[in-house]
Amino acid sequence: MSSKLKKAVSELEKQFNVPLSEVKKIIKDFHGEMSRGLAGQKSSLKMIPTYVDKPSGGEKGKFLALDLGGTNFRILEVELRGRGQLTPVREKKLVLDKKYVSGKGENLFNFLAHCIKDFSKEPRSIGFTFSFPVKQTGIAEGRLLHWTKDFSAKGVVGKDVVRLLSEALLRSATYNKRIAALVNDTVGTLAAHAYHDEDCDVAVILGTGTNACYQEEVNNISKWRGPIYLSDRMIINIEWGGFNKLRSTPFDISLDNASENPGAQILEKMVSGMYLGEIVRFIIRGLINKKIIFKGKNIPIFNEPKGFIAEYISRIEADRSPGLLDVNAFLKNKGIRNSTGEEREALQKICHLVSKRGARISAAALAAVLTKIDPKLLRVHTVAVDGSLYEKHPNFAKNIRLTLQETFGRRALRVRMALAKDGSGRGAAIIAAIATSL
Ligand code: BGC
Repeated sequence: MSSKLKKAVSELEKQFNVPLSEVKKIIKDFHGEMSRGLAGQKSSLKMIPTYVDKPSGGEKGKFLALDLGGTNFRILEVELRGRGQLTPVREKKLVLDKKYVSGKGENLFNFLAHCIKDFSKEPRSIGFTFSFPVKQTGIAEGRLLHWTKDFSAKGVVGKDVVRLLSEALLRSATYNKRIAALVNDTVGTLAAHAYHDEDCDVAVILGTGTNACYQEEVNNISKWRGPIYLSDRMIINIEWGGFNKLRSTPFDISLDNASENPGAQILEKMVSGMYLGEIVRFIIRGLINKKIIFKGKNIPIFNEPKGFIAEYISRIEADRSPGLLDVNAFLKNKGIRNSTGEEREALQKICHLVSKRGARISAAALAAVLTKIDPKLLRVHTVAVDGSLYEKHPNFAKNIRLTLQETFGRRALRVRMALAKDGSGRGAAIIAAIATSL
């Protein structure tokens, strides 16, 4: 590697490293923010009460579930058969057009209502997974606090999203559907996994966005002023993407300034799939501008916003061939014909540094949640995890596991990470079942 490139990479190594001492500091700060959030004090963790506990496994019936929170919108019909058994009956996935994501909110909800109408003519209760920060005021009631993940549909922030969807259903003359529950995707994932695994008390999403929820003692939620609530535990939606007690690099600051929501979702911007590619892009663009890599050439993937996406990081890190043949093929396809082996190695190393930092920060946050529930980790905990980053990135899941081992030693064996694919939709159906039985 040229000495300038070598020097730049070793500087980045220092900036993106998260040593064990920093993991421990994150855990401590995270605990502080969790407690303040639960007490209703100022905190970067919203710690939102969800008005629901884990399912018993006995819930039964046919329900519709909606899943809105990323590039796709899904509708599914689910049959709950009790004893932890569930059958997805039908499912439809629709790509959300940009005009709904950033246009008039009313159009977004009209679109959802039309999809529901087309999908089912039967009378059904609906579990509505809406994966954004919502201040719930009931099991089927909640106001959107702010958009994340580059959504910006107008006229929705501050409004009750269940009401917006119910009104759209009426506008589309759909009278036989009722929204029984409003659910965050983390909560849906927890419900879906806990339906058949009673050790499951935490769920994490690591995809376009990131967040987690867990089961808390109602006595510890000192801000809780809700109506009579039957269980002594409740699921808390942490909204951990908002955590802001983290050390930022100059690249994080540039990314934040250029984002739709500057100053917000600081952890999410260091961890989730929507942003990892952007961080790599900012780094490489800086090196290109200094003529340290790719002969200072102007290359679209590194020059255009969102030009370099998380899937590229996965592909680049997965290449184990000598000389990095697949990275070479990738770069050629993107217009960089004669990269050197050293440049490819540097690019791979940078992807690795950025994704590893994301994995270590999420592991630290997860360790904080686990020790909030069970300070000495005396019990087994299943953590249900969903999201493309966790599922598809070649090292992300492994790096989380390694960080937990470093932090907890042998006790890390008591933490079981379970991939809970597509849990959020099914979980919404389960929560709709709980809501209709109240
Ligand atoms: C949202 C969360 C959601 C997470 C994962 C974040 O941007 O604020 O509500 O759970 O993405 O989808």
